[in-house]
Amino acid sequence: GKGAAMVTAVAYRLVSQRKQIDETLAPFKLSRQHLQDVKDNMRVELERGLKKDTHHSASVKMLPSYVYGTPDGTERGKFLALDLGGTNFRVLLVKIYSGLRKSIRMYNKIYAIPLEIMQGTGEELFDHIVQCISDFLDYMGMKNARLPLGFTFSFPCRQAGIDKGSLVSWTKGFKATDCEGQDVVDMLREAMKRRNEFDLDIVAMVNDAVGTMMTCAYEDPNCEIGLIAGTGSNVCYMEEMRNIETVEGEEGRMCVNTEWGGFGDNDCIEFIRTKFDREVDEGSLNQGKQRYEKMTSGMYLGEIVRQILIDLTKRGLLFRGQISERLRTRGIFETKFLSQIESDRLALLQVRGILQQLGLDSTCDDSIIVKEVCGVVSRRAAQICGAGMAAIADKIRENRGLEQLDITVGVDGTLYKLHPHFSKVLKETVKDLAPQCDVTFVLSEDGSGKGAALITAVAQRLYSHT
Ligand code: GLC
Repeated sequence: GKGAAMVTAVAYRLVSQRKQIDETLAPFKLSRQHLQDVKDNMRVELERGLKKDTHHSASVKMLPSYVYGTPDGTERGKFLALDLGGTNFRVLLVKIYSGLRKSIRMYNKIYAIPLEIMQGTGEELFDHIVQCISDFLDYMGMKNARLPLGFTFSFPCRQAGIDKGSLVSWTKGFKATDCEGQDVVDMLREAMKRRNEFDLDIVAMVNDAVGTMMTCAYEDPNCEIGLIAGTGSNVCYMEEMRNIETVEGEEGRMCVNTEWGGFGDNDCIEFIRTKFDREVDEGSLNQGKQRYEKMTSGMYLGEIVRQILIDLTKRGLLFRGQISERLRTRGIFETKFLSQIESDRLALLQVRGILQQLGLDSTCDDSIIVKEVCGVVSRRAAQICGAGMAAIADKIRENRGLEQLDITVGVDGTLYKLHPHFSKVLKETVKDLAPQCDVTFVLSEDGSGKGAALITAVAQRLYSHT
């Protein structure tokens, strides 16, 4: 009768809806071979970045950090550190004690960097930074102390020494003018001169991945890799000097800031990119750049999710076919929301509550689909990040001619810390793709602050003549 026909129609609609959703999400589900290929291509790019003849065109820049070794516990002193380029801008006072009291103490203040300053002129940006330092020194009552400063500047910099380096290009949410190609330490020094209120000795500039590795290595000498899985995505590791053809010298090791976020900018990961990845790229500040980062880091995962949701809604599969103003708004799905939506402890009603907070009215069915979309996007991110890490670990193992490598990775970043599944999937993938490496991941909190201070301490000991 009529009732049965209606039931059939509803069932048909559901089956077809399911099929369309499955088809949309299928390109995000990577096979083992895909991941193996990502690992192999990463390895090729790592080598290209290290070689004199190819590093100029390599998508993974492999930038020397001028950090030659990990801390040995004798570091000591009082330092100022700046942390620019993560979720927050911070100024820190870091005290390092050696000997029996070996420990690190920190005081820090978070400052907002308004969007118009992130994307204004370079002078305005550095004036703002110096204004924040001034506030911090007032707050701590230290305006007259000429402290050594370590600057964690989490962008690609071509360094010529521990305290010299020019910005290659902005990444993530920054786009201040007149900075690319300029020396970052000079820009900071000049801004301090313009203000003419206090004096600091800028000793080191540090990438956050390097700071994170150093902080972890302070406790665990086996830590020779640093990973950031946060707003951006990056890795550094201890490479043999003889392999770093862009720096003189053959002996010992140096930490290399890989800038692996740019992996694929030469098209070598197109085989896993989807139309949604291309849409995210097109809406970004740096089109065509940082393609791997745009598939693996907190600043972009929510954007991929949003593009998929828009597509499903347009096709009438979600939100009753109504695209709200909110859904059209860039950046609504921050890492913390994705993490909440994917938490297994959350009931669907709570997922709907989160969507409500974001201004999205959902039915129960909608919330199931949204959760599923978040799941495939973050799982793929963790898997390809793991494939990259497997390439790094195997490279180190081969460098040292080992059958088996035991190594620790110091990790920081909101995605790694807040997301309920990211770290687990990352570890599983590394284990699967680099079976000859025993890789331990250790959370290395506040690497940007402590690490900058540790590196400053070592640099001062090595280079100062006072
Ligand atoms: C971006 C930056 C890189 C940084 C990473 C994590 O990839 O280019 O320098 O380490 O974000 O903050």
